[in-house]
Amino acid sequence: MALNINPMNMIGSNLPSFSLPSLKSPKVSMVSTLPPRSKDIGNLKPFTAPKLVHQATHTMPPHKIEIFNSLEEWARDNILIHLKPVEKCWQPKDFLPDPSSDGFEDQVRELRERAKEIPDEYFVVLVGDMITEEALPTYQTMLNTLDGTRDETGASPTSWATWTRAWTAEENRHTDLLNKYLYMCGRVDMRQVEKTIQYLIGSGMDPGTENSPYLGFIYTTFQERATFISHGNTARLAKVHGDMNLAQLCGSIAADEKRHETAYTKILEKLFEIDPDGSVLSFADMMRKKISMPAHLMYDGQDESLFDHYSSVAQRIGVYTAKDYADIVEYLVERWKVKELTGLSADGRQAQDYVCGLAPRIRRLEERAQERAKETPFIPFSWVSGREVKL
Ligand SMILES: [Fe+2]
Ligand SMILES: [Fe+2]
Repeated sequence: MALNINPMNMIGSNLPSFSLPSLKSPKVSMVSTLPPRSKDIGNLKPFTAPKLVHQATHTMPPHKIEIFNSLEEWARDNILIHLKPVEKCWQPKDFLPDPSSDGFEDQVRELRERAKEIPDEYFVVLVGDMITEEALPTYQTMLNTLDGTRDETGASPTSWATWTRAWTAEENRHTDLLNKYLYMCGRVDMRQVEKTIQYLIGSGMDPGTENSPYLGFIYTTFQERATFISHGNTARLAKVHGDMNLAQLCGSIAADEKRHETAYTKILEKLFEIDPDGSVLSFADMMRKKISMPAHLMYDGQDESLFDHYSSVAQRIGVYTAKDYADIVEYLVERWKVKELTGLSADGRQAQDYVCGLAPRIRRLEERAQERAKETPFIPFSWVSGREVKL
């Protein structure tokens, strides 16, 4: 029933196969759930890279790097202000049982009682969202591929590098919070979840941003808005299922995503002002490639279509849908005043027409997909101990 909003669905996916780590000392694990040492470990297939489609590099003309150097001060005054001082940020502990308090066990018990009321389909989506956040090393790497804005030293004082590090540090709280919550709630198979994270970080991502900060920041703008929407919806659904604490937890993450979206949107707004042609061409380029979700290469060692299955459940329960994708495109077209751009090249005008007509086209496709929708199957998700969830 879901419109295929994941471009990987359209191109077919060839998921990675990894070898198991060699287990040096299984004897030390009194409470460990490590799998037994296998005689076959030496025969396991070596790591195979997933099939990738966007491997072009350094496509931005080198002279455009100057634009980003010249925006250094502008970024300090206009972008870094969207970071929150650490002392004012919430921390994962603020939403979780306090292990240093006497009431810890009771708080954990209450958290688990509340979680019992929530269906598996919700947990499948929350796990997928958490795993997406967990691949943060990949996203920081991606931002540091961008020509003109990358952190050249690991502690570069430029505004662009300062933003990337502080953004990563803020995002890391999302990962911690969701992981710790899911660990305690007792509703998911953490070993399967943890394996999926390890596979995903090992695979990386293939966003098609080609070292260009134009493409890179269009991608991040889109993603921040997408995560704002999806965490907002997991908050809304937690409320529906009667868990106000979980709703607050997800809502706090959504609020961060909104702040990040504001910053990335402003970068593109500025680029549209300085270089409308280059910006609209980049916008159309990313839209033609379709925004592949950052965790599109996820794999749990069992389900070769795990990302598609997770996306289908997210679409069905209304956490992130094809309609949301179309709404984001429409919002960005409005926000960057793409319709009003003048003085474009012939290619620029074509790109402008393409992006301005895209949201209605996606909606029409979605309507047709809905009409053709058949009853969707139930499939097992290893994340919820193999229990079946409707796609
Ligand atoms: Fe996040
Ligand atoms: Fe974010």
